[in-house]
Amino acid sequence: MALDKPYRDIPGTTIFDADQARVGYHLNQFCMSLMQPGNRERFKADERAYLDAWPMTGEQKQAVLARDLNRCIALGGNIYFLAKIGATDGRSFQQMAGSMTGMTEEAYRDMMIHGGRSIEGNRSIGENGGSASALRAAPLAAPARRQGTARIGASVYTSHVPAIGAAIDLGRTGDPYWQPLFEGYQPSKAWMKANRPDVILLVYNDHATAFSLELMPTFAIGCAAEFKPADEGWGPRPVPVVAGHPELAAHIAQSLILDDFDLTVVNRMDVDHGLTVPLSLLCGQPAAWPCPVIPFAVNVVQYPPPSGRRCWQLGRAIRRAVASCDQPLNVHVWGTGGMSHQLQGPRAGLINRDFDNAFLDQLIADPAALATKPHVDYLREAGSEGIELVMWLIARGAMADAPPRVVHRFYHVPASNTAVGHLILENSG
Ligand SMILES: [Fe+2]
Repeated sequence: MALDKPYRDIPGTTIFDADQARVGYHLNQFCMSLMQPGNRERFKADERAYLDAWPMTGEQKQAVLARDLNRCIALGGNIYFLAKIGATDGRSFQQMAGSMTGMTEEAYRDMMIHGGRSIEGNRSIGENGGSASALRAAPLAAPARRQGTARIGASVYTSHVPAIGAAIDLGRTGDPYWQPLFEGYQPSKAWMKANRPDVILLVYNDHATAFSLELMPTFAIGCAAEFKPADEGWGPRPVPVVAGHPELAAHIAQSLILDDFDLTVVNRMDVDHGLTVPLSLLCGQPAAWPCPVIPFAVNVVQYPPPSGRRCWQLGRAIRRAVASCDQPLNVHVWGTGGMSHQLQGPRAGLINRDFDNAFLDQLIADPAALATKPHVDYLREAGSEGIELVMWLIARGAMADAPPRVVHRFYHVPASNTAVGHLILENSG
């Protein structure tokens, strides 16, 4: 599922894409550490010792020690991050840029004074048989866009109430309060065992855990190799670390961004109950989750969240992204959160069974119409936190146009403050 890279034949140029970012994560994070004056002093005092504290490769460390910026870039470095090394050395950006060209500092400065490097002969490798070919070996043709073999087999919808996770973790699933709820998920656990996907793309929201008010992305996709269960204040849940799927995540991120959806790419993130409780509900308490999971976080904490229509369209774009992946993967898309609940203020405890069941009906039968529901309807009818339901439209939008098969439907009140809804839909055919 290699990313499409039509830019690979631009001479002397390495585009910092998801593949490069993954390779260079620790190298670039080391560079960022040099933003702190104390760290710059420690680095200058003993460069090798400072570098050895970072989980970088030996090649990356050597490239930094040699101040070989071309090598650093080949090993995943990004010039804006690498510039922190030059700044620590007291070098200007022009000195750093010039050092990568094979020219002397004076010759580079002189070239810039006289109008800079010409575009002629520098558009593509081997252009005009000119000097550009010397800038980079092994010209690479842009791979053609392929129709892939990955598919979305099913979608799952469920509330992700934190108290459900606590009930599981504390062994209280058989308590009279909880037993009816967990009974409703028994068919789902059996279905999950019999229909294990290769990857789950799990749509959820972060609850002031990974994202503070410093940064509140509307859509964020987790591209890391693993995601640790978050400590939300009560200590992390005793559940397995979530294995990611960096290659598919990068493929989906690139496809969605080029499809005009502005994603935040996340390379490090702990995942809270929004992601782990749905996994617990369908997978129980295994030593390891049954397949890799790509976290897909949606802001529903600070108004406005994305509209229902935007979520629906995003689901369609996820469908296109998966369809263009050339690996034979069976992908499930999960939408989580909801149903009706309000956790704040004098109206806390709000439940609206009629709204919830009508939502489930329409999600199955006419999701495009459901996607036009304005935010205020959710807020008024389903409670201020019931707005989480817009996330279900992402998973529903990822399904095929043909009516889905309803494998399981369940509704229960209450789980702590919340109405619990659950659906499993399979694509027919
Ligand atoms: Fe939530």
